[in-house]
Amino acid sequence: MSPSSMPSVDLLGEQIASVLADPATTHGLARTLRTAAKEIALHRYHHASRRAWPNGRIDDKPDRVQIGGGGHRIDGFFNIDLVPPADLLWDIREGIPLQDDSTVEIFSEHFLEHIDYPRSAKHYVREAHRVLMPGGQIITGVPDAAFALNQYPGPLDASDETIERWYAKRDCRTDINTRLDLVNLVFRDQDDDPTYTPHLWAYDHEKLVQFFTEAGFTTVEPWTFDPSMASPKRRWGSVYVIATK
Ligand SMILES: C[S@@+](CC[C@H](N)C(=O)[O-])C[C@H]1O[C@@H](n2cnc3c(N)ncnc32)[C@H](O)[C@@H]1O
Repeated sequence: MSPSSMPSVDLLGEQIASVLADPATTHGLARTLRTAAKEIALHRYHHASRRAWPNGRIDDKPDRVQIGGGGHRIDGFFNIDLVPPADLLWDIREGIPLQDDSTVEIFSEHFLEHIDYPRSAKHYVREAHRVLMPGGQIITGVPDAAFALNQYPGPLDASDETIERWYAKRDCRTDINTRLDLVNLVFRDQDDDPTYTPHLWAYDHEKLVQFFTEAGFTTVEPWTFDPSMASPKRRWGSVYVIATK
């Protein structure tokens, strides 16, 4: 990645790399510095795009936009994410880089819980309301905290399928075994991966309704899962809503 236009950030990145390379660096300091190093990389991506769009708005007016889609692309959608492969690399914590009343539909799944609440999450939902046309809609899917909490008082057998599905591809089964581990997942998933932003807030249907209503959306309804848009692997244990401006 090319250096940023902020020499102080580049210098900080070099200093962090040097401290991380020192075997005497403690686990706690290294953990914090890896988080800072990751944010520096994201800062560079964001500011590279920001140089192209200094007023924070792109010229295009895409009808359909996916936010935080990662590798999940949807036909006909313009993809905005922090990291490649997106159509636009942009840190949504800084706002949505679209013009007012310009978009018909926004889709995101397993994105919202990765930005800090309340500052960035509330900024994001206000921005979504700004960029959607009147009558425009935003579909949002997140891990369902109520789903994990409801399993807590139940028998461990009932949680086995969830543990198996949520952790099948990750090398952490020796650490994630119990119902409380599932609850922790909702609040801290990916905290063990320094390249990733962990879950920073948990949501359920009630919270999503309150969240979108507070931002001015007129209706917030359950969204019927549509595998032509949503990722089938997300269906299990997620809650989706569709909010209309
Ligand atoms: C858990 S992944 C989900 C990817 C995809 N939606 C899915 O369900 O498989 C979270 C995605 O949100 C993106 N993301 C996290 N914070 C972001 C931010 N501040 N701005 C833009 N994208 C962000 C990440 O880069 C990542 O692609």
